Amino acid sequence: MPKQVLVTGGAGFIGSNFVRYLLQTDPEVTIINLDALTYAGSLENLNDLPDPARHHFIHGDICDRPLVDRLFHEYAIDTVVHFAAESHVDRSILGPGQFIQTNIIGTFTLLEAARQAWLTEKTVPIEQVRFHHVSTDEVFGSLAPEDPAFTESTPYAPRSPYSASKAASDHLVRAYHHTYGLPVTLSNCSNNYGPYQYPEKLIPLMILNALHGKDLPVYGDGKQVRDWLYVVDHCEAIWRVVTGGQSGETYNIGGGNQPTNLEVVHTLCDILDELAPTSPHRPHRNLIRFVQDRPGHDRRYAMDITKIGHELGWRPRMSLTTGLLETVRWYLDHPDWIEAVRKGSDLQKWLERNYAQRGGNP
Ligand code: NAD
Ligand code: TYD
Repeated sequence: MPKQVLVTGGAGFIGSNFVRYLLQTDPEVTIINLDALTYAGSLENLNDLPDPARHHFIHGDICDRPLVDRLFHEYAIDTVVHFAAESHVDRSILGPGQFIQTNIIGTFTLLEAARQAWLTEKTVPIEQVRFHHVSTDEVFGSLAPEDPAFTESTPYAPRSPYSASKAASDHLVRAYHHTYGLPVTLSNCSNNYGPYQYPEKLIPLMILNALHGKDLPVYGDGKQVRDWLYVVDHCEAIWRVVTGGQSGETYNIGGGNQPTNLEVVHTLCDILDELAPTSPHRPHRNLIRFVQDRPGHDRRYAMDITKIGHELGWRPRMSLTTGLLETVRWYLDHPDWIEAVRKGSDLQKWLERNYAQRGGNP
């Protein structure tokens, strides 16, 4: 069983939820959390960790090979769970370079360090090691309404700089398994939502804008479909794959909820109407504005999760209705987190840059 786990990107949205989940779930594990604290990462996401003595935060870049080498040795790392990435499609459209650097070169750097430590220097017995790569359903491209959901054997067809960079990193991870025998697993997951998500993504952006009476910018006709998954369900699925998945295998993870974007925004507005009855912005649906679409916008994603269900007995627990309610509650209950994240990042500048060009009012 894993003991010394290097989590990359553990100060981001999913990574910080995973750190919390793992500390709660597995009392044997020590976590070494390597994160560069980009605009998307924050130590505020790691407040109130259970059993914090088993969590070591390292401020650094996954592209820094000497640093990564040092961590493999100093902590005798036996497991890597690799989240660190540039993760926002809109940012990849306006500036793809950083996506190539972090998502491709960063993954390559980690793979090389793992190969050196585990296969050449044999720092840990080979049967105890695992490199797990966290990836996305976006590598499969876009589905038409009548298409079946993505399976693990759907051909890759990424259409944004973000998804192309994730596809490249997935291929590298598989290549290290086939070429060098590195023990790896991969998971491709659908859109996550829940606590600690940086408010540039659809769900937290809509919640915060609605609270402040700002426009709710819906891209295009709002009929795009995403397969929403509650983040804690994702964390559980990843740990199942790391501890029980077959080396060399890929597992699809999804929520089984496939509403249109507009339906999601409507639901959030209705929840806010109820939870914030004195808000001067009720009914929040009046704030919805249709703005210029994202270039190359993928129309529909849906995940077939038969394999992880059959092999590892995982399925999502949280319904979308309850998950959205919990998420809105979490943002309402955490104004200090919102304020700290706003102050410590480029959020307002980003919103002005992204939404002014779309005809929205950031
Ligand atoms: P995020 O943007 O919230 O967090 C990314 C984290 O990585 C941040 O803490 C950031 O500081 C860190 N980071 C960025 N560049 C780094 C570098 N060079 N070195 C070290 N750390 C660096 O992202 P997220 O939404 O939590 O996504 C985590 C992973 O899950 C990503 O690999 C993403 O592709 C994948 N994923 C995300 C979703 C989703 O819906 N959010 C869905 C499927 C897969
Ligand atoms: P997002 O949260 O950026 O995730 P992804 O692009 O990785 O799926 O967007 C989810 C969906 O919501 C996507 O179809 C784009 C759409 N969207 C909007 O309509 N308005 C927005 O302001 C944002 C950020 C996204």
